Amino acid sequence: METVQTYIKANQKRFLDELIEFLRIPSISADTKYQGDVLKAATWLSTELKRIGMDGVEIIPTKGHPVVFAEKKVSEHVPTILVYGHYDVQPVDPLNLWNSPPFEPVVKDEKIWARGSCDDKGQVYMHVKALEAMIAEGQLTCNVKVIFEGEEEVGSVNLGDFLEANKKKLSADVVLVSDTSIIANDVPSITTGLRGLSYVEVEVTGPNKDLHSGVYGGAVANPCNVLCTMIAGMHDENRHITIPGFYEDVDVVPDAERRMMNMAPFNEEDYKQALNVNALLGEKGYTTLERTSIRPTLDVNGIWGGYIGEGAKTVLPSKAFAKISMRLVPHQDSDKITELFSNYFKSVAPPYVQVKVTALHGGQPAVTPTDTIEYKAASAAMKKSFGKEPLPQRSGGSIPIVALFESILGIKTVLLGFGLDSDDIHSPNEHFGLFNFYKGIATIPYYYMFYAEMNKK
Ligand code: BES
Ligand code: MN
Ligand code: MN
Repeated sequence: METVQTYIKANQKRFLDELIEFLRIPSISADTKYQGDVLKAATWLSTELKRIGMDGVEIIPTKGHPVVFAEKKVSEHVPTILVYGHYDVQPVDPLNLWNSPPFEPVVKDEKIWARGSCDDKGQVYMHVKALEAMIAEGQLTCNVKVIFEGEEEVGSVNLGDFLEANKKKLSADVVLVSDTSIIANDVPSITTGLRGLSYVEVEVTGPNKDLHSGVYGGAVANPCNVLCTMIAGMHDENRHITIPGFYEDVDVVPDAERRMMNMAPFNEEDYKQALNVNALLGEKGYTTLERTSIRPTLDVNGIWGGYIGEGAKTVLPSKAFAKISMRLVPHQDSDKITELFSNYFKSVAPPYVQVKVTALHGGQPAVTPTDTIEYKAASAAMKKSFGKEPLPQRSGGSIPIVALFESILGIKTVLLGFGLDSDDIHSPNEHFGLFNFYKGIATIPYYYMFYAEMNKK
């Protein structure tokens, strides 16, 4: 194992140069303009997987962007790890807020700055480099299969079918994912839960065309005004969501567990300061850590309608739109919540508008157990590389496929992420600490080592 760590240290600079090359490919899955680049990223990855000595490397087409698959079998007698990650990235807008172009990676202040540096190309690449080191040193202690998808950022809509169709090919003992964060570089943690998601777009229509707001204003309902009122009504004075039945299936987290999660290091003043807000807002009766992990939420992600060009135009618009997402917790069901939302939105629509609700995507929440050897191996690996036992912590983000690994393949997931919540994923100036990149590469081989050892017992 020490030879693996020596190999990693000796090749650090090259690993970073290669990651930079990977990050130059603008693999934005949401935008069809970049379809060729998404494929280019898949091809680049598969070439790299072949180069490091993986077998059976394939680019497998789906109805959307392809899945990159590879495997390496070392023995019948050791467990199999299925590594999952995504090589697609989020769109880059607003581009003018980036300090350097998103696909021209820059290394500055001990960080690498580029779209996808943390989410998730940088973390995918940690696995590729850890595998390279283990293979090169003849120290791969578990069988491994990898699937890297190109549609995570658009809801992994085709990956469920891929799992269904490839159950045997993907059979494994655990899924290992690096696509989450640690609490801080000196406070390692393992993510033990992800929120689910229900994502809809709404359209509110008033008059059959845009009108002069002086000639008609005051007599005809303005759909922008109406939409704002409808959205405002979705929270009450305690910041509870008002959709009937919304909380029906929400798991009540025991007080003891809540006390534990609130012991994680967190400073509300620093948090506010980093975001430049004077006060926080959230559901009454819960702390910030609870609000962003064990409680469901409803947020407008975008809202538009009427005139949004330069200067002023006096118009009473015909239509208004919003994209609305709800983060869900165990045991809320994404389809059920989408339906509750839809029924509610229609039921509160006043007679002077018509409304339409379209479901965009969803995903079920997930919790991962901590009393398994899969988790214990992860904990031991982090303890070895960070010198500190990691804390279990639930995350507020979503990775829709994790619930499907369990329901379709029957495999539990370990969320061994190395990002920081402050890495600005999905935002301008996304970055990933070199410390985190290298710590990830160093920790992953320990996971294979401990997991193989624990399986023997
Ligand atoms: N890697 C993130 C999820 C994440 C981020 C988990 C930080 C924990 C901490 C993932 O790529 C992501 O962005 N997921 C989307 C959902 C998807 C359906 C678009 C999300 O959470 O918004
Ligand atoms: Mn991600
Ligand atoms: Mn993401």
